Amino acid sequence: MSNIVTGNVYAVGVVDWNVRNFHGNTFITKNGATYNSYLVCDKETALIDVVHKNFEEEFINNITKITDPEKINHVILNHLEPDHSGAIEYIAKVCKNAKFYGTAKLKEGLHKYYNIDIEINIVKTGDSINLGETSLTFVEVPMIHWPDSMITYCPEKKVLFSNDAFGQHVSSNKIFADEINNGDLTKETKKYYANILWPLGSIIERKLNDIIKMNLDIEIIAPSHGMIWRKEPLKIIEQYLSWAKNTTTNKAVIVYETMWGSTEKMAREIAGGLSSQGIEVKLFDIASTDFSELAYEMLDAKAFVIGSSTHDNEMLAYIAGFLHFLKGMKPKNRTAIAFGSYGWGGGAVKEIAEELKSFGVEVFACLEAKFKPNKEELQKCYDTAVLFAQKLK
Ligand code: FEO
Repeated sequence: MSNIVTGNVYAVGVVDWNVRNFHGNTFITKNGATYNSYLVCDKETALIDVVHKNFEEEFINNITKITDPEKINHVILNHLEPDHSGAIEYIAKVCKNAKFYGTAKLKEGLHKYYNIDIEINIVKTGDSINLGETSLTFVEVPMIHWPDSMITYCPEKKVLFSNDAFGQHVSSNKIFADEINNGDLTKETKKYYANILWPLGSIIERKLNDIIKMNLDIEIIAPSHGMIWRKEPLKIIEQYLSWAKNTTTNKAVIVYETMWGSTEKMAREIAGGLSSQGIEVKLFDIASTDFSELAYEMLDAKAFVIGSSTHDNEMLAYIAGFLHFLKGMKPKNRTAIAFGSYGWGGGAVKEIAEELKSFGVEVFACLEAKFKPNKEELQKCYDTAVLFAQKLK
């Protein structure tokens, strides 16, 4: 892809149509991904971010359609993570006359990641470079999404090159958000936040408020993943602030793992009790749902309902792995029910409850059933869910 973003600003990144397991299976990208990069062409030319190593030849072809790589004067490295820096060795060879820029932490990490001998010009918030009629100003945004991260702002074109922030994992031959299905984009934007940025909410809130106070005139937000925001770009900043505050709704997400269907029966009964009180309910058997989808659903859910059969006196392995994953998200202000069936000896429900409490989730109730839940036990699941719903409201 090589397209005009605005005036002398071009998109020269690549589309990874087939990636499904982003950085080691931690993010299931059903719709692929893009690694965006931008050229700002003036008397001097700047390249903002590079791409994943797998796409370096396509990347340089995209650049060559706009300019001779040897005419690139500046390469801005907003972020060290290999999806944005992987092609750096190749770029350093072909952009023979470029200077390279990044934060001090980027410099530290780059030389450890790659065996390259390039000089990184360390930049801080407020530093800028002049390209002629246009300029680029740097703003450090540590932890959005790594300690080295920064964003780059072009005041003359009113473009914010936001790197990971405001991205989405979608693949398209279009470059603007308003050119693709809005429903898909809304979901993927939230899913990206949930899976990449959820644990960093307090830092994100503080940093976004700092940026708002800078009064940058922004007409376009050009992230390094997915589509570019050119219609009401400030709305995505407001949305991020809401997620960063851990804002929740009256929604319960039920996630369970079941051996012989008893835990599933309990899950469906709990769902019925919650639904009877008007709570939005989503129910997932973890055997058929990936963690990334669950993070998306749980980001704004006030209630978590986690269930597992007992096996060898412990919860089942996928639920254990999922709770480990959820702990990393550092959810705040959430309440839960732990539930599950057991055969000859229990253990899973207590273990689930203890794990939830260990990362700050309040446990409202524990529900257990021996072998197969009978009528009374199912009624207890339903009634407890009704009480839980009333507490949530
Ligand atoms: Fe898209 Fe933190 O890398």
